[in-house]
Amino acid sequence: MNYKIFVFLLAIAACNSKSEMSEETNKADEVIPVKDPHSFALPSESVIKHLSWNAEVDFEKKTISGVATFNLKNDADANKLVLDTKELNVTKVTDANGNDLEFNLGEKVDHLGSPLEIKIAPETTTVAIHYSTSPGAEALQWLDPVQTADKNSPFLFTQSQAILARSWVPVQDSPGIRFTYEAEVTVPKGLMALMSAENPTETNETGVYTFKMDQAIPAYLLALAVGELEFKRIGARSGVYAEPSVVEKAAYEFGELEEMISAAEELYGPYQWEEYDIIVLPPSFPFGGMENPRLTFATPTILAGDRSLTSLVAHELAHSWSGNLVTNATWNDFWLNEGFTVYFEQRIMEKLYGRAYSEMLASLSAQDLKTEIQDMIANGSENDTRLKLELEGRNPDDGVTSIAYDKGYLFLRSIEEEVGRERFDAFLKMYFNDNAFEGMTTEGFLERLENDLYKKNNLTFNKEKAEQWIYQSGLPENAPAPQSDKFALVDAEWEKLKAGSTPLDLNTSEWSSHEWLHFVRSIPEEYTAEQMKMLDTAFKFTNTGNSEVLTAWLVKSISKDYTPAYNRLEEFLVNTGRRKFLMPLYEEMIKTDKGTAMAKDIYAKARPNYHFVSTNSIDALLKDK
Ligand code: BES
Ligand code: ZN
Repeated sequence: MNYKIFVFLLAIAACNSKSEMSEETNKADEVIPVKDPHSFALPSESVIKHLSWNAEVDFEKKTISGVATFNLKNDADANKLVLDTKELNVTKVTDANGNDLEFNLGEKVDHLGSPLEIKIAPETTTVAIHYSTSPGAEALQWLDPVQTADKNSPFLFTQSQAILARSWVPVQDSPGIRFTYEAEVTVPKGLMALMSAENPTETNETGVYTFKMDQAIPAYLLALAVGELEFKRIGARSGVYAEPSVVEKAAYEFGELEEMISAAEELYGPYQWEEYDIIVLPPSFPFGGMENPRLTFATPTILAGDRSLTSLVAHELAHSWSGNLVTNATWNDFWLNEGFTVYFEQRIMEKLYGRAYSEMLASLSAQDLKTEIQDMIANGSENDTRLKLELEGRNPDDGVTSIAYDKGYLFLRSIEEEVGRERFDAFLKMYFNDNAFEGMTTEGFLERLENDLYKKNNLTFNKEKAEQWIYQSGLPENAPAPQSDKFALVDAEWEKLKAGSTPLDLNTSEWSSHEWLHFVRSIPEEYTAEQMKMLDTAFKFTNTGNSEVLTAWLVKSISKDYTPAYNRLEEFLVNTGRRKFLMPLYEEMIKTDKGTAMAKDIYAKARPNYHFVSTNSIDALLKDK
């Protein structure tokens, strides 16, 4: 479809009355050009500007109750404020003077929850919602002491991205809507509370913590963690939070954090969030990392002990620009967050460890992409291999595939290769600066690409090519194909092995975990359980502390029914909640009847340890089994 018509249709969809349409054009700083299909909010009528959150965390009832007070900016004839909610129990809504406001909680819609419609007048600029969460709130994971590292105290963490913030705060839960916030949170004495905000570094006596976030963020970056935590400073503006028994190990693992922040700044401009800390969560955290502003949430599975998995930190740090500063306007534009971040992550890693190192990452990412595109086409989701997604009526989680990450990365790399690094870097720096604290659509990016990169440098813009990357499935023919010299050496060792060398004859002493990962991924189809045994005896894969290598090894073990790995498989699945590792393992198991039985058996034990994000995916996987 012609782009202008497309935007026009979206604009019509965004406005449900004539007056809104004309107002829209009067508010230069407020133009919200696209309707977000995953939010009920009507920001052109009334939009949230600031949140003041007062809440109490109750571990016994597994609920958070409190008051969310919003400052609003209203249209001249606004008569309602619409917020997103999911299974919230709203008891009353008041204005600035404490007078009740009429409200209505609408029908629940799949994935989206219920719209909370509050009657306001144009001059109502403060609205307070009194509410509590439900015990099943999807963003929240309540952990018993046994599910933590130290097994002393309960733990709570949130995961708001993509559209789960609404299950713990009534809010306009759309990535194109930003607000500042402050909070006062009461937790059981002895525990520390942290948010995506200015944070305490000590546990206090009262259990009452106050927070301030002066930079405007979208709701998916709202975050809270509560537990027995300690802080250890790493650099002038960086540090790590973790349970007491984990904090030293974490501080070592992230020892190069300051260098990373400086490398990122040299590339694309100043870090705009003042402090950058990482919290290492209990193992059920469903992601590797989550870029909550000022406080990245991380899985303990990156604590390999040798700093080998820190590209994940580079990734979450990079989101401080791509994603947190310039934010995908809707989840259909998700690749703008993740593709840019993978590109940026690799540039940071290249700066710190050299091109040969970052090319290993690029090559792994290209491998991931290749298999995923094949799988997606095979299972009928070819349309989801386009960068610009169509997620209306669907769970935005459906868009979390390596398309956004790795195809997005390759697209940006193809531009870099075409225009040269110097020009591309200058463009990106300007892009982050000019669009800071704003939403960005794929179409908006294309326009800037054309004007600020190509036209500005008197280069011809091949629009058709760019649109092929974005609106067509699969990969364009001459997409970059990263080749790693280091992996070529691994391949050569494989040839020796296949030709009859024994494992211990191989030259592996200089290998990093990435080379080991590539080695395991290259185990041939025809290898038998017997041969797996030989590799395991030599290289101890079943006992590796590197979670990436372990997952790849366990996938191979399942496919070859290499039973000596099964205890470790079960132990890993019961104790780890990171979806990226769980999915390939369960997927591999359900390929056979024996494996399916094993999958069900393990899942029955493991499920209570997983966050909703993970159970939701695995429930679907095992549904008809
Ligand atoms: N923002 C994502 C995690 C996410 C995406 C949560 C979509 C919910 C919906 C985060 O930055 C991420 O990409 N994490 C990756 C790590 C990374 C190194 C690719 C992960 O968790 O594996
Ligand atoms: Zn990311």
